[in-house]
Amino acid sequence: MISVFGSANMDLVAYVAQAPKPGETITGREFRTIPGGKGANQAIAAARAGADVAFLGAVGDDAFGPGLRAALAEAGVDTAGLRVVSGPSGVAHIVVQDGGDNSIIVVPGANGVVTGPAGRDAEVIARSGALLLQLELPMDAVVAAAQVPRAAMSRAEVILTPAPAVPLPAELLEAVDLIVPNEHEAAALTGRDDPRDALEALLDLVPEAVVTLGARGVLYGSRDGARLHEAAVPVRAVDTTAAGDTFAGALAVARTEGADPARALRFASAAAALSVQREGASTSMPHRHEIDRLLE
Ligand code: ADP
Ligand code: NA
Repeated sequence: MISVFGSANMDLVAYVAQAPKPGETITGREFRTIPGGKGANQAIAAARAGADVAFLGAVGDDAFGPGLRAALAEAGVDTAGLRVVSGPSGVAHIVVQDGGDNSIIVVPGANGVVTGPAGRDAEVIARSGALLLQLELPMDAVVAAAQVPRAAMSRAEVILTPAPAVPLPAELLEAVDLIVPNEHEAAALTGRDDPRDALEALLDLVPEAVVTLGARGVLYGSRDGARLHEAAVPVRAVDTTAAGDTFAGALAVARTEGADPARALRFASAAAALSVQREGASTSMPHRHEIDRLLE
């Protein structure tokens, strides 16, 4: 079993020719509400990739909460640890411009009031093979969750996607087994622009690291000396949204199944490559049989 302690956001996406200037009102072409948030995305990716997954987090008591829960449940994720708190759910207000940059406002809502594992969360984490963490919840809450496996003498390995890239406190790094930044996050965390240098710097902080390089694949290193590069599966990318979340979810699945590092990278790269060939985030995450078929 894999537990994900993280964020759930409803993405409110408006598609426009050009984003409005301050004071301006424009008419958009299309609007979609898409369940997201890095935590929920990783949970859905791991469930589709074949694991039993428990999501631990919070939604508000507004109209978006039930939709977020339903999206997780539909993917087979256990939502018993998804609490309803008073106030709004987390939302990401996204304006997608024709051929231009997207602008995004994330309002944490319920994610912002999570203080740490609550209720049966610690028990669930302790029973897991892996605990997936990101940084869209308050840092103190993430640190408290990361410390559960060691305190409970559990075998759960702690896998951190350090996004958004913010400075990582020592108490968090001490509890992390594997860190999985993309190359931009790796550079921000280490001050090294070359991903190979960043990987080495990350291994001063945690025992294992994976740096994802988009279409250029991934780098892996461990303190016991292993270094690997896994090329990306060559595909025609149509939408790379949540490629990293798909990768992290699938990586956790392979590792909890006992795959060695090379095999786990291949599995996660295949899952991520499938996701970039389709539109959207959770909507694009592949099922186990699709990943297995690509690896045959
Ligand atoms: P993020 O989504 O966090 O920015 P990346 O862009 O590095 O992360 O993508 C994560 C992984 O997804 C990559 O390491 C790769 O395996 C896969 N991936 C991303 N973009 C592509 C692509 N264009 N073609 C094939 N695989 C891709
Ligand atoms: Na996609």
